[in-house]
Amino acid sequence: MSKDHLAIFDTTLRDGEQSPGASMTREEKLRIARQLEKMRVDVIEAGFPAASNGDFESVRAVAEAIKDSTVAALSRAFDKDIARALEAIKPARSGRIHTFIATSPIHMEKKLRMAPEDVIVAARNAVRFARNGIDNVEFSCEDAGRSELDFLCRIIEAVIEEGAQVINIPDTVGYNVPEQFAERIRQLRERIPNSDKVTWSVHCHNDLGLAVANSLAAVVAGARQVECTINGLGERAGNAALEEIVMAVRTRQDVFGCDTRIDTTQIVSASKMVSGITGFPVQPNKAIVGANAFAHESGIHQDGVLKHRETYEIMRAEDVGWNTNKLVLGKHSGRTAFKARLKELGIEVDSEQVLNAAFTRFKELADKKHEIFDEDLHALMSDEVVTPEDEYFRLVSSAFRSETGEPPQAEVTLSAGGREHHARATGSGPVDAALKAIETVVASGSELLLYSVNAITTGTDAQGEVTVRLSKAGRIVNGQGADTDIIVASAKAYINALNKLQSGTEKLNPQL
Ligand code: KIV
Ligand code: ZN
Repeated sequence: MSKDHLAIFDTTLRDGEQSPGASMTREEKLRIARQLEKMRVDVIEAGFPAASNGDFESVRAVAEAIKDSTVAALSRAFDKDIARALEAIKPARSGRIHTFIATSPIHMEKKLRMAPEDVIVAARNAVRFARNGIDNVEFSCEDAGRSELDFLCRIIEAVIEEGAQVINIPDTVGYNVPEQFAERIRQLRERIPNSDKVTWSVHCHNDLGLAVANSLAAVVAGARQVECTINGLGERAGNAALEEIVMAVRTRQDVFGCDTRIDTTQIVSASKMVSGITGFPVQPNKAIVGANAFAHESGIHQDGVLKHRETYEIMRAEDVGWNTNKLVLGKHSGRTAFKARLKELGIEVDSEQVLNAAFTRFKELADKKHEIFDEDLHALMSDEVVTPEDEYFRLVSSAFRSETGEPPQAEVTLSAGGREHHARATGSGPVDAALKAIETVVASGSELLLYSVNAITTGTDAQGEVTVRLSKAGRIVNGQGADTDIIVASAKAYINALNKLQSGTEKLNPQL
């Protein structure tokens, strides 16, 4: 790989999913993977196949669907894990095994209960085993940020001899600070005799808010792959945010002397998609993808920007995909235009039946809303990906009443396994009443962990996209629903989550 290319390894679907409450279904992972491919991410880490059958199936589905990015699967340094990961990525046009073992004294002694020499043997065996199945093998030293440098040199030299092509240095617990982390990378590259045979990678966690700074310092020290996630999702305080890494490197070419192949105009769409699917909102002042990231409030700033944009702007909002609220379709648009726009958005519709159903919903929405934006189409199609078998519960009709001085009321008709049920409830507000009425029929006994509502586009006729997170007996699911009526959107989101609980498409967080 040429020295001036910085590879972006996205782990939203694996480390990102390890955020408590961020677990995703296979369909959701596929949608995100397609967006990552469109954004031209080099490597998509699709999951940890040995963690569960659901994870295996998701990795396999991503491996089947993705053509222009490498699909990586994580595995511990065990033959059984690696064999499962190899099986999952078999259909990939370009696949990678990412195997890891802990190398810090505390992890080796307290967690692995292994002697350092045995850890080196396990690492060698794992890489050898993986290389028998595939050429592209990445090795990670878990907790490298707290590992002894001499030991790191020995284990890394050994795995390079076995054929590892990428060496990843994770700051697993987010303990490092930039100068020290960069020095660690420099030392490893200088001291390991065969270090020039591999690509050096970093994977930083954000416990001290330094994940991006540490990753970028490592790039200056010679790292040529950064592992990161959309919106900085990930274990605990998260991972380095992809959008910040990519835009820092792109904006400060003078400092980094390398660049990514990312299509930055896809960043905001990716951010919105991940936020919508996980229900983790993006803070307004978040760099690059926050709603205020390009907003100028003070008079002095506004005046400066109007006179000469670069007085206060170092990047252009449109370069990261803001202002994409283009009018794309309206109520007079036909089926051909609808289909063509979906294709342009990278949304594949593989059956006429699904297309017809989607087109009917599009017409209904266009009647209510007149102007349909790309974001509306994404939301509409994410509703459509629910297959009839996944849809045990379905909202047939609803009515809500909210009047000053009266308790808000909801009435719903719900189909459950094909049989219609009618229920009525009051609540502290109409959303509360609607969810209570649904619960009267379903009696799921689940706990509502999160309820959030976001306007998909601008204007008071915008669709509201609602996310709910439910928990039942240790299982956590997210549900989404979109509608111009936010009470209906809330009911849809709640029913979507109930369907996931019912069909078992959710899974536990695959904690390592
Ligand atoms: O944080 C970490 O150490 C990891 C490894 C498995 C790469 O996620
Ligand atoms: Zn991690």
